[in-house]
Amino acid sequence: MNSPESLQNRLTELEAENARLKDALAHAQRLANVGQLASSITHEFNNILTTVINYAKMGLRHKDANTRDKAFDRILSAGQRASKITTGMLAYARPKGDRRDEIDLGQVLADVLVLVEKDLQMHRIRLQADVLANPICEVNVSQLHQVLMNLIVNARQAMKDGGMLTVGVRLSEDKGMGELFVRDTGSGIPAEHMRKIFEPFFTTKTADELGQGGTGLGLSFCKEVIEAHKGRMRVESTVGQGTTFTLKLPLAKPAASRKSA
Ligand SMILES: Nc1ncnc2c1ncn2[C@@H]1O[C@H](COP(=O)(O)OP(=O)(O)OP(=O)(O)O)[C@@H](O)[C@H]1O
Ligand SMILES: [Mg+2]
Repeated sequence: MNSPESLQNRLTELEAENARLKDALAHAQRLANVGQLASSITHEFNNILTTVINYAKMGLRHKDANTRDKAFDRILSAGQRASKITTGMLAYARPKGDRRDEIDLGQVLADVLVLVEKDLQMHRIRLQADVLANPICEVNVSQLHQVLMNLIVNARQAMKDGGMLTVGVRLSEDKGMGELFVRDTGSGIPAEHMRKIFEPFFTTKTADELGQGGTGLGLSFCKEVIEAHKGRMRVESTVGQGTTFTLKLPLAKPAASRKSA
């Protein structure tokens, strides 16, 4: 016979196991996103190296100070761009704990855009960023990076023949909320799928020749993260025209009101 205590212990164990598996899954998903970007980032590095090599040659060939200064300038900015990308990738792929930090949502967006810019360009997708406000929210930055990355990868996958990706930050019409949005001009989502897209394992993406299909876990992860932050997530879509995902997150309390609380 199972005593109530032993059942309770088993339940506690299973809950801990569930939390561990969720962490492992989120980490695997982050790495899958990195994999998605690997080929475009390799191209980007090739371009950066070409720039560095050509300007180094130019600097060696020309003895005048002006030309050499220009060459060093170009080499420096190419190097800085490369370092921004590797730092971003490493930070993104590293497993993170539960900590929350106050951060400007525009900064979170900018961090992710550095990683996806080249990938979008390679898929003939124009990018527009509308940062209309700088809302400060208390968030798990790494989880929020992953949420945005999932939405942007989905948007790119919905625009097979290229298109326009508009991302942005603004204050929500709902008082005390900041808002991020990701809008694409892709295939759109048919009404019969709308109810299912946030369910784990719902995917319409079949495996390609590399065996890479969807797992259907992207949006369920997003929903879970946003709900854990007491935020809300909304989707609007028109088949053949495109889709907009909007995330609302509570603004951080001003320092003064926190002290008195
Ligand atoms: N921007 C979008 N445009 C059109 N359809 C979308 C968009 N975002 C999501 N979907 C639909 O919702 C489904 C579920 O998305 P979700 O991100 O959860 O999984 P996935 O992209 O199929 O797989 P994974 O994210 O695990 O690689 C997708 O298969 C697709 O049908
Ligand atoms: Mg996805």
